[in-house]
Amino acid sequence: MNSQLAYIETFGCQMNERDSEIMGQLLTGSNYIETTRISDADLILVNTCSIRDKAEQKVYSLLGRLSKYKKRKPSLIISVAGCVAQQEGNRLPSRMPQVDIVIGTQNIYKLPELVNKIKKGHTPQIAIELTNTFEIPPYSATAPPAVQAPLAEKLDCSSEGEFKKFVTIMQGCNNFCSYCVVPHTRGREVGRSIGDIISEVEKLANANIKEITLLGQNVNSYGLSNQSSEKANKSAFPDLLRAVANIDGIKRIRFTTSHPKDLSEELMGCFTEIDKLCPHFHLPIQSGSNKVLKSMNRKYTIKDYLNKIDALRNYRPDIAISTDIIVGFPGETAEDFEQTMDLMEKVRFHSAFSFKYSDRPMARSTSFNDKISEAEKSERLSRLQKRQNEIIMDRNREYVGSTVQVMIEGKSKSSDTQWQGRTTTNHIVNFEANDLKKGQLVDVLITEACQNSLRGIYND
Ligand code: 5AD
Ligand code: SF4
Repeated sequence: MNSQLAYIETFGCQMNERDSEIMGQLLTGSNYIETTRISDADLILVNTCSIRDKAEQKVYSLLGRLSKYKKRKPSLIISVAGCVAQQEGNRLPSRMPQVDIVIGTQNIYKLPELVNKIKKGHTPQIAIELTNTFEIPPYSATAPPAVQAPLAEKLDCSSEGEFKKFVTIMQGCNNFCSYCVVPHTRGREVGRSIGDIISEVEKLANANIKEITLLGQNVNSYGLSNQSSEKANKSAFPDLLRAVANIDGIKRIRFTTSHPKDLSEELMGCFTEIDKLCPHFHLPIQSGSNKVLKSMNRKYTIKDYLNKIDALRNYRPDIAISTDIIVGFPGETAEDFEQTMDLMEKVRFHSAFSFKYSDRPMARSTSFNDKISEAEKSERLSRLQKRQNEIIMDRNREYVGSTVQVMIEGKSKSSDTQWQGRTTTNHIVNFEANDLKKGQLVDVLITEACQNSLRGIYND
């Protein structure tokens, strides 16, 4: 049977990237080959994000544009996955009749089955059941479908020159930050068993993968919550890091994302204890005002956060810290915002993702009073980003003159002798070199700081 072509577009976070990879593998198993040309596709999969209003609008704009492809090729199958699919369910195909499949965040393994049904003429197909219970034992072999071990056996990473991979260790979130849609679209927190995770990383290491990023909405609480049959185990995540570090062939370990309230002393200690653990920590602060943090339901204070940053820097002085910040949360006064600006001076983040607050369906803050105007939010965001860019530049300058370890990511597009790689602190480095391999580790002397990267000299 001739293969058909599948085009996959992914919006949003690394969890989505990983889910798209799994769905891509499932489609390969159903006789599809991935294409990068949307106009050639027999199946289009859009893996969506609804974390902020802007992200959701981008999805609708793409879905709107897809109807012309469907008109040209009526057999084209259009499938929508991810948080918008979960959130909108039946509403999606009624609003956008070009959509054939709506596949929720915990149903990605059903994709081949749904595609088959569409081929048999059953349309549309909707699979958005969400297991919002605490009844699934997180450390048993009966993990729910969305967190089952993926098809790692089918991987031959060495042939594609791949050297780094995401490994999902948990799904969902129990925190219910008041602005956030995630607990509603991804359900309650469920962890994969440590045995499943380790066997996946071993397979990846055998396939020549050098760097692993452990993924979850809040990896710091891995092993802590929804323990129906197992006792909460505070050391579960540090133990997982230790076990991954023991796997030969894995050179670098990263994880994302973390919640300040669950960041334990033991986890911080791992930055001294585990050489392979990269000294980069993404620790979303969200606001510099205790009042706003309370209203966001974040469950820590600025003092707690700053203490943890100090402790992390004690354990690992070279650690780079990045964060997420929301400006214009309902009720955020000019004074609250100044406190956020003040916090940025205190921490001097190596990088920061900053966003204007937007109302999200099902999020509690959507019903809060004292919304901030768009104009005010834009002004605060641009002030914050301007200052943060200056801090980033200063931070980048701190590397000039030092020699750093770089993992090669590939050649730069502009020149055959320009290479690009990443430091353990997650900085991009550009430099001249001849023959290097993706995933290779080299030492580079940093000679210049730029806004989004570093430049350096590599001496063989
Ligand atoms: N509005 C703006 N930013 C948001 N984020 C999450 N929800 C919202 C929202 N409703 C941001 C947070 C989070 C990041 C992934 O997205 O900063 O850490
Ligand atoms: Fe959303 Fe908060 Fe959970 Fe992060 S920790 S996914 S911001 S609810």
